[in-house]
Amino acid sequence: MRQIPELIENNRQWAQGVTQQEPQFFQNLAQHQQPEFLWIGCSDSRVPANQVLGVAPGEVFVHRNIANVVAHTDFNCLSVIEYAVAVLQVKHIIVCGHYGCGGVQAASQNHHLGLIDNWLRHIRDVRQKHESILQMFDNDPRRLDRLCELNVVEQVNNVCHTTIVQAAWERGQQLAVHGWIYRIQDGMIHDLNATITGPAEIAEAYRVATAAPT
Ligand code: CO
Repeated sequence: MRQIPELIENNRQWAQGVTQQEPQFFQNLAQHQQPEFLWIGCSDSRVPANQVLGVAPGEVFVHRNIANVVAHTDFNCLSVIEYAVAVLQVKHIIVCGHYGCGGVQAASQNHHLGLIDNWLRHIRDVRQKHESILQMFDNDPRRLDRLCELNVVEQVNNVCHTTIVQAAWERGQQLAVHGWIYRIQDGMIHDLNATITGPAEIAEAYRVATAAPT
């Protein structure tokens, strides 16, 4: 098991290494941030935004919570979206879920866990909404995969319906919202083809992304 002093030492070596490669890196970064991407992902330790995207500090603004939920009353998430869109003027919002998500799995079972049940209720709502499609999978493990995907699509939809994103589009700001899913087993991101670049695309993108398998 790693010890706390080891983490501090890791940090020292990392900062030194970065400075050796690019002496002005931290000074430049300290001036301002100008990320083009907002990442909304799961808190799962295996899905760190910067590392899976292969980008340096300063390139992606990040919000993570259990099961990458975007709830209309979550002022934490809404504040992040507002700052990213209105102040940083990011061009892309990426909602990235992952297969094998413990939060989604917990929501697909009927055990009671405590406080988190209230949070997972958002995903249980997704499950109920798409019950007819999910039932087709019976006990196939792909059922959980599909619920992880549907959860991303629903959260993309929620992002698009926030007053923040609606207002950005109204004032003509260029902003695309993407739905991705990450596979922990191979480290690969898959685009769920649920990208929305304006209010007119919301309904059709949602319809296609939540359609029953043919
Ligand atoms: Co997760």
